[in-house]
Amino acid sequence: MADTSSTDFTLVSRGTLPELRMVGSWSDIDGSIDVFIVPAFQGENGLELAGGPASVLTSEQEIELWKWLTSVGAQGTVGEMTFLPGEILASEQEDNSPEITRILAVGLGNAEDLSDEDIRQAAGAASRRVGKAETAVSSLGIFDPEAALLGHALGAYAYSGQKAEAKETIGKVVALVSEPDQDALARVTAIAESVAFARDLVNAPANDLYPARYAEIIRAEATAAGLEVEILDEKQLEDQGFGGIVGVGKGSQYPPRLVRVTYSPSDANSDLSKVALVGKGITFDTGGISLKPGAKMWDMIMDMGGSAAVIAATLAAAKLQINTQVTATIPIAENMPSGTATRPGDILRHYGGLTTEVLNTDAEGRLILADAIARACEDEPDYLIETATLTGAQMVALGDRTPGIMGSAAFRDRVTVLSQEVGENGWPMPLPTELGEALKSDVADLRNISNSRFGGMSVAGHYLSNFVSEGVEWVHIDVAGPAYNTGSAYGYTPKRATGVPVRTIIAVLEDLAK
Ligand code: BES
Ligand code: MN
Ligand code: ZN
Repeated sequence: MADTSSTDFTLVSRGTLPELRMVGSWSDIDGSIDVFIVPAFQGENGLELAGGPASVLTSEQEIELWKWLTSVGAQGTVGEMTFLPGEILASEQEDNSPEITRILAVGLGNAEDLSDEDIRQAAGAASRRVGKAETAVSSLGIFDPEAALLGHALGAYAYSGQKAEAKETIGKVVALVSEPDQDALARVTAIAESVAFARDLVNAPANDLYPARYAEIIRAEATAAGLEVEILDEKQLEDQGFGGIVGVGKGSQYPPRLVRVTYSPSDANSDLSKVALVGKGITFDTGGISLKPGAKMWDMIMDMGGSAAVIAATLAAAKLQINTQVTATIPIAENMPSGTATRPGDILRHYGGLTTEVLNTDAEGRLILADAIARACEDEPDYLIETATLTGAQMVALGDRTPGIMGSAAFRDRVTVLSQEVGENGWPMPLPTELGEALKSDVADLRNISNSRFGGMSVAGHYLSNFVSEGVEWVHIDVAGPAYNTGSAYGYTPKRATGVPVRTIIAVLEDLAK
């Protein structure tokens, strides 16, 4: 067995987030400004600036800026980025105003149909475009400070791994707005930190983040946030009947874990919704004996994305004091081929007693989730939100940016609406009866794959539904594609870990607290 007794329970490397501020006037900004970010719109007669009370500039400055932008051909179209020297505002500036080095005008298109997500995307793209800056001051928040700050923060997130020289990014983002709201700032900060934590976990390679260490990192973070933590080791998992987690983990030198984290609001009462969160925590997925091809196998460090989102959202619930009772149940294992690994044809007995005939060891996520869902349901939650990087079929059906949401119809649709609102863009998927029929086994209660190539995402959803107790409103969110961006960065989404679906889960918890 590998040595898992390390007492170092921090990640080897974490990404950086800028410090966030909200101020109401230029005089509240101390120090010089490396870049001043302004919105530009596409009006009927070309480029328009915010103008009027929405502007943080004097009308003289607006005119000067407009002249320069139009003279270099800027039009205010979506995604357009124009840099100008800060000097052009200097002559119209008040004497004690901070010095501005660069101006970045960000095209937002038509001012009329501007959504929060448009602002988040533009702010994120602006942050990435700015690159290195100590202080960025942004007036993209004049319409929605929270959207602008969140987009700026998530776009400026930089993960340098173990490079000798860290990537350059923005140190501090100051939103210049008409009415600074410190509660809104605290909320955005909590959400950005939560997304960044999920990204850090997903970005970590599997030699840094293996089950025992992942469990201890969760323990350290959750304990610091005042939450209750319980960790079951491989022996306890075996003794207590978690055959799915044990079966998937037993091919690895790094034994599996089950982590449970509970948050109860300080003024807890019996009317609170009780929410169970469950997330897939495969620290690396080789496929096991049903080995995956070598190409792109390195991306399988992200196969714990569901669990990362769940723990990050639970920490956010505590920071935001969301009025729901939350228990996260996180099964963690490494799926490896070896002489001790589960074989195709093996039968596993899950927590709660149901059995699965394992016909493909690469359909491992559902095996560990089955145990975790059964355990979570023992607490009799009102709602269960489970999320996983579960199937390649999710990407075949929806592409790699759109989570598939399955489960109890009403709750599924409610979660979908919230996912769309936060810009994570989940989409409802059905669970057709015949796809569930395909999971019958001759020798166990279930088999872990169907015989058909079709509808793989819903087949997996059906499999999981067998472990959800009667009466629990549940959703399964498949984020196989959306959790990890293998393409280039866009909007506020960097390369690699995205943090999806952290913000959907937080939004659902907030909605259930109403
Ligand atoms: N972790 C994978 C799913 C996945 C694939 C996530 C690609 C992200 C990118 C999962 O464990 C898996 O291997 N699923 C199989 C299931 C199949 C054997 C029924 C798949 O999708 O091919
Ligand atoms: Mn797999
Ligand atoms: Zn997997």
